[in-house]
Amino acid sequence: MTRTPVNVTVTGAAGQIGYALLFRIASGHLLGPDVPVRLRLLEIPQAVKAAEGTAMELDDCAFPLLSGIDITDDAKTAFDGVNVALLVGARPRSKGMERGDLLEANGGIFKPQGEAINAGAADDVRVLVVGNPANTNALIAQRHAPDVPAERFTAMTRLDHNRALSQLAKKLGVSVTDIRKLTIWGNHSATQYPDLFHAEVNGRNAAQAVDDQAWLENDFIPTVAKRGAAIIEARGASSAASAANAAIDHVFTWVNGTAEGDWTSAAVVSDGSYGVPEGLISSFPVTAKDGRYEIVQGLEIDEFSRGRIDASVAELVEERDAVQGLGLI
Ligand code: NAD
Ligand code: LMR
Repeated sequence: MTRTPVNVTVTGAAGQIGYALLFRIASGHLLGPDVPVRLRLLEIPQAVKAAEGTAMELDDCAFPLLSGIDITDDAKTAFDGVNVALLVGARPRSKGMERGDLLEANGGIFKPQGEAINAGAADDVRVLVVGNPANTNALIAQRHAPDVPAERFTAMTRLDHNRALSQLAKKLGVSVTDIRKLTIWGNHSATQYPDLFHAEVNGRNAAQAVDDQAWLENDFIPTVAKRGAAIIEARGASSAASAANAAIDHVFTWVNGTAEGDWTSAAVVSDGSYGVPEGLISSFPVTAKDGRYEIVQGLEIDEFSRGRIDASVAELVEERDAVQGLGLI
């Protein structure tokens, strides 16, 4: 049976993440090995030629699942009929720059893109924002797409989640597949809180298995939270292949579900759970079922975790107020 191709739009397609992402989408890793895709690449006019070069390479791979590629510098065209929108295009943080500095530069990009999604996206559209500051960019886009259910707008903290899995696995000498129920809370920024208190390693509580609060506070949390800056310092450019990999994981899980007895992390619109103000796009423990991400309910939050979550959420409130002040929402 021939399936109708899924329309996948990637913004910033000529950038570093785009280059690492497009080939995996076209080879079936985003949605599954039997789902054909049609790619729409959105770039700024100066980068359209580079996107065309990448499209030539995609052609040269002869991917059986790739049913076509369109390239445009017009957001309305890019999002017309889109099923999965990966909003990657943004200005990356350079050495010494904090995410707050990016709010104004990048905020302006996400308002027209939200409007274009509102105008033309397919009914089942799912949006993942990767471009930083991801949570607040997602909020801007979501607010400009009032006809799309708010839950369809998400921001990426799966890279932080994967980073935390690797750090914990190394510490305990286990495989990442031995770890379940790890959570990234809050903002995709240095204030994020990677939480081991609810995580399990081979069925045992992860914080207890580590049994080293000093490592948790002074090593694990800062290593995960500042990993993006460490990569920029080391590579001279922000993470690209690992970010693309996390975007693939985020969408694949969203569509195909989380494993029984496990959850993952994603920044989704808050319904007020865990004291996170309603409407903010904040990272939570989430399960995915029937194509929906849902916030895991009922976890007990101790004083240590409460303070960390509150600090990151306070930063999100500041970012929201800043973009409100700039008239972006
Ligand atoms: P890059 O500079 O290599 O590529 C960005 C691309 O976006 C460029 O080709 C640029 O022309 C394009 N672009 C800019 N404005 C655009 C617009 N209005 N419409 C369409 N395209 C536009 O950057 P990169 O390394 O690919 O990173 C992209 C973004 O992802 C950055 O904001 C970076 O900070 C962020 N990032 C997020 C995470 C995360 O975990 N959430 C991880 C790594 C990087
Ligand atoms: C990352 O986490 O690798 C990126 O968000 C880095 C950054 O801050 O641009």
